[in-house]
Amino acid sequence: MIKFSLLVATVATVSLGTALADEGDINSDKAVISAGAELYADNCAVCHGADLEGAEDWQGYNEDGTLKPPPHDASGHTWHHSDTLLFDYVKLGGTAAMAKVALEEFNSGMPPFGDTLTDEEIWNILAFIKSSWPEDIQQTQREISEEERALNEAKNK
Ligand code: HEC
Repeated sequence: MIKFSLLVATVATVSLGTALADEGDINSDKAVISAGAELYADNCAVCHGADLEGAEDWQGYNEDGTLKPPPHDASGHTWHHSDTLLFDYVKLGGTAAMAKVALEEFNSGMPPFGDTLTDEEIWNILAFIKSSWPEDIQQTQREISEEERALNEAKNK
């Protein structure tokens, strides 16, 4: 029975796909992507690299134990995360985003942008980042996001 309602939730989410296009879904609108590219260059490139390449030796730690800025291209792990987590990470910053998923007191080097960027601007940047991924990776990340949405909907029933 639980399986059945999960399936229903998934189908419902998939059919909502177009309505959510402004938010997490893959957006191939050139205007959205170029707006995102500009915002990325102004706000994110300083740490994550002009070409989304991340910091040098990004898999190591800084002396204070914080992580280095990872790449956002397909070589990194941005695409392992759902839209909700990516959005929260940018809007709230790493420490608050992790607290929201019950990882308390994570000392994050990722600052919050909720005061400088609108929600729409954050989605534009995420659309630009996604546009750098090959199609199979875009598809995998979309599935991760859809599974999470379905789980949340099932939980809220
Ligand atoms: C001051 C440096 C800095 C700036 C500026 C910055 N970040 Fe980050 N970001 C980090 C660090 C360091 C991490 C690594 C994880 C952590 O410490 O929480 C990170 C992690 C992330 C993550 C989650 C990890 C992942 O898998 O990709 C996302 C998403 C992200 N940043 C997006 C952005 C976006 C979008 C911008 C611009 C609006 C931005 N960052 C600006 C330092 C920065």
